[in-house]
Amino acid sequence: MKPVEISRGVYWAGAPHWDRRLFDAIMPLPDGTSYNAYIVKGDEKTALLDTVDPSQAGPFLSCLEGMGGIDYIISHHAEQDHSGLIPEVLERYPDAVVVATPKGRSLLLDHLPLKEEKIITVADGETISLGAKTLEFLHTPWVHWPETMCTYLREERILFSCDLFGSHLATSGPFSEERHRVSEAAKRYYAEVMMPFRALIRKHLERLEGYTIEMIAPSHGPVHRDARFIMDIHRGWVSDVTGDTVVIAYATMHGSTEILVEHLTDALAGLDMDVRRFNLAVTDIGKFIVSLVDAATIVFGSPTILSGAHPLVIEAAFITNSLRPKLRFASIIGSYGWAGKTVEQIRSVIAGLKLEELEPVMVKGRPAAEDLDRIKRLAQEIKERHGKEGMVSRSVEGE
Ligand code: FEO
Repeated sequence: MKPVEISRGVYWAGAPHWDRRLFDAIMPLPDGTSYNAYIVKGDEKTALLDTVDPSQAGPFLSCLEGMGGIDYIISHHAEQDHSGLIPEVLERYPDAVVVATPKGRSLLLDHLPLKEEKIITVADGETISLGAKTLEFLHTPWVHWPETMCTYLREERILFSCDLFGSHLATSGPFSEERHRVSEAAKRYYAEVMMPFRALIRKHLERLEGYTIEMIAPSHGPVHRDARFIMDIHRGWVSDVTGDTVVIAYATMHGSTEILVEHLTDALAGLDMDVRRFNLAVTDIGKFIVSLVDAATIVFGSPTILSGAHPLVIEAAFITNSLRPKLRFASIIGSYGWAGKTVEQIRSVIAGLKLEELEPVMVKGRPAAEDLDRIKRLAQEIKERHGKEGMVSRSVEGE
């Protein structure tokens, strides 16, 4: 691994992690990921912007050799996939100081074996000159933790955005020309990591309009040469506008719930609606999460196991509630043998979303003709609600 100059005096020191397949012990990574650090060399000083995940210590530390001294280690975000090697870098460059937001300083001290005196803090808008290179620090809380900041390199018009605008995509260099692949990975990253913070991201995007940005260098995935493109697609994702999309997330044990799901899919498709359907026993949970970015309605389908909902459905409901997508409507369909609390359980797990609930369809045993009529009515109800709302919108102000 060698540093690659991406702009005058600016080097990518990224570490692709080709075979990583899981993040946070839950999110699948079909394309691996990368952790990007950057080196900015001014006429007088040198800054290292972030480090990489400790699993990539060997290649990263040898990559730094030959780049000269380091005066500043800019820590945008205390999560260990970016901050984890700061102690090792400080061991090799003992005169360097770490630069973070005040909250970042506190979190770095909580998570890493660092000495307080090695970390200085910067206010929002404060600058550090490296000599003909000026780093301007922009506090951007909650992308992804409360301490996060970005750095704008004025002379080169580069925004170092840390997790924001990132993607889990391992590539052999800093750039990728595969725009479709990058935007797909970026959407997945947004859905899994950033979606709960979309109201704040909107504010950050508004603020960034005041800057001339020619390149965006995130901490995961390829560097964006076309800054406008990646900002514009994020603007769509964080907007209040949804598509005419219904997500069906279900589990089935003996096929009764699946019969309901089949009929609902057919009924919705017959009404020209866009259906995204996920059998949770076999789906890539990341694909389910991506489908929530633009969806207006979610339907959970669950058999009754013991006395309640299937655990896979509870998990999907929990994830949905945590990620706070811009859904408007929800319903629950499924089957039971004799009794159970399936509807109440799922309803309580997604209560935080404050969705408008459409009449659940729970059937005893195998669905009968009248149950399938109820499914048809549910499809019509969804169509009507979407139609009434047009392009369904939901404000996130104040969330
Ligand atoms: Fe890539 Fe929130 O760390």
